Amino acid sequence: MKIFLDTADLSEIRRAADATLIDGITTNPSLMAKTAGNRDPKEIYREICDIVDGPVSAEVVGTNKETMLTEGRKLAQIHDNIVVKLPLTEEGLKACRALTDEGTPTNVTLCFSVSQALLAAKAGATFVSPFVGRIDDISGEGMQLIHQIRQVYDNYGFETQILAASLRHPQHVVESMLIGADAGTMPPKVLWMLAKHPLTDQGLEAFLADWATLGAEI
Ligand code: E4P
Repeated sequence: MKIFLDTADLSEIRRAADATLIDGITTNPSLMAKTAGNRDPKEIYREICDIVDGPVSAEVVGTNKETMLTEGRKLAQIHDNIVVKLPLTEEGLKACRALTDEGTPTNVTLCFSVSQALLAAKAGATFVSPFVGRIDDISGEGMQLIHQIRQVYDNYGFETQILAASLRHPQHVVESMLIGADAGTMPPKVLWMLAKHPLTDQGLEAFLADWATLGAEI
């Protein structure tokens, strides 16, 4: 499963990219608003693309097909790795089809049902982003959605990649992998949590203490 980092925070992106642990980036207007300050978001997308060699999702904010297309084309010009993120609305699906036909990669976002995911695939989306955590937030079964989309896409040979989104903790990531999501996007905090295990910490502490009794160097 590809690991995408869900942030526009350049220092977090640099940290994860330096560790060569990420395959791409997803952003959304809220994440951009958190970190951009008074910088032009387009400059930030460019900088992200310089740091990470992989898909970088940049979202449109228009609500009709034509505006989305204009914004999507502008975003796509920033860098070859830009993936235009579009909301799962009727207009968003129309813009998705048009951008796909132009050869621009797309990520259809805010997906909360299998029927929506079906339409994203029919519109030729490169990625569909089902939001697991936000379904859990309203007492639903977010992971069930990933299961069902996987089954439908496999039944009919749809090539749209399932990008499990709104992953809030390591178990979400593990379950997405077990189901066979193509990619998962997570905040930096969750990425680093994947590496943590108390037995690793305890084991390392004991190994270092024992080695120190030797008074030797490697
Ligand atoms: C995905 O593309 C979204 O940016 C993101 O995963 C949403 O996560 P949240 O529900 O934690 O805000």
